[in-house]
Amino acid sequence: MYIRQLRIRDFRNYNQLDVTFQPGFHLFTGYNGQGKSNLLEAIYLLGTLKSFRGVSNIQMVARGRKGYFVGGTVVSEGESYIKIWWSPQERKLSLNGQNITRTADFYGKVRCVVFCTEDIFLVKGAPSVRRRYMDLLLAQSDSSYLSVLQRYGQALQARNALLKEPVVNFAVIDSFSQELIASGIEITRRRRELIRRISPLVQNAYINIAGKNTEKIDLHYRPNIRSDMAVELAQARSKEIQCRYTTVGPHRDDLAFEMNGIPVVSVASEGQKRTWALALKIAQTEYLREIYGGFPILLIDDVMGELDTVRRQSLLPLLSQMVVSRGQTFMTCTEKNWPRELGLDMVEWKIEAGRIALDKYI
Ligand SMILES: Nc1ncnc2c1ncn2[C@@H]1O[C@H](COP(=O)(O)OP(=O)(O)OP(=O)(O)O)[C@@H](O)[C@H]1O
Ligand SMILES: [Mg+2]
Repeated sequence: MYIRQLRIRDFRNYNQLDVTFQPGFHLFTGYNGQGKSNLLEAIYLLGTLKSFRGVSNIQMVARGRKGYFVGGTVVSEGESYIKIWWSPQERKLSLNGQNITRTADFYGKVRCVVFCTEDIFLVKGAPSVRRRYMDLLLAQSDSSYLSVLQRYGQALQARNALLKEPVVNFAVIDSFSQELIASGIEITRRRRELIRRISPLVQNAYINIAGKNTEKIDLHYRPNIRSDMAVELAQARSKEIQCRYTTVGPHRDDLAFEMNGIPVVSVASEGQKRTWALALKIAQTEYLREIYGGFPILLIDDVMGELDTVRRQSLLPLLSQMVVSRGQTFMTCTEKNWPRELGLDMVEWKIEAGRIALDKYI
């Protein structure tokens, strides 16, 4: 899969950008604050309708403009043309000229995996970061997951609002409990299956980075529901009244990362945490590749500066395979030292004040 053409209007510091890319390895170089990450953000948006930097849409509209446009042609089995227009008043999505109203019909046409400095929060951050990791991967591998997640979210929101009312009406609350339970069980089932399948990929990636004699690492799913959601929800009633929100369900799930049986957060060094974060992203890439038989688009933002030589080297086999199978990678960097070690053919682009120019083929 690769992006053949990218068109941007009034997005961040880009007023107007039209650029054509080949498959392969692309390097965006430039000084700080020129728009390198913004460009990765636009590509990621095509695949997920979200920023990977966790900001809202309004922040991505170029200052002083009404809304942004991001469009792109993506080539996989066939070619699709995707358009996103967003303003505070409306969002318009189109796929091959057809307007799309359901996000699920749009999602995942561009499959991408982003490697960024914030990945460390997969290890150090709140459980919500790890739930997002699972949900993104599930949505990328099966668009029907999004509708289950949406149904769950709506039922949860409705229940929580009702639990906050001065007089709590349990008859009304229970009309939402059914949907909550049905979709909650489904989410738990899919997350459990996902973790079962990606655990060996994470372990493998970790060993490839840290070496064969490294600590034994394990990844466990920690579902909030232990066995029967209906029973557990009923048992939590007095707690719900006390807390005034829904206390049971997959919105409270987590993942546990262990090294030699001990939670990573309490024993791992900073370097080991980084290795975990990288292994999780490599596993995401491998998983999507297994499912679709082709590479997702890799967006590598600034992480290379952070990684030591060993960890950089561990990305090499993946990147070489990506090139061979006509995948596509976009990487940003300010210093030009690292990519030369790669020994890959690459196209270098210069990014300056929201403009892109072909620098050279290396
Ligand atoms: N909504 C916006 N409208 C206009 N400009 C914006 C907007 N949001 C961000 N910018 C500008 O984009 C620039 C930052 O872009 P970006 O984060 O892509 O930089 P970068 O090239 O990745 O830099 P670094 O090397 O520091 O990571 C800043 O100059 C910032 O002022
Ligand atoms: Mg940046």
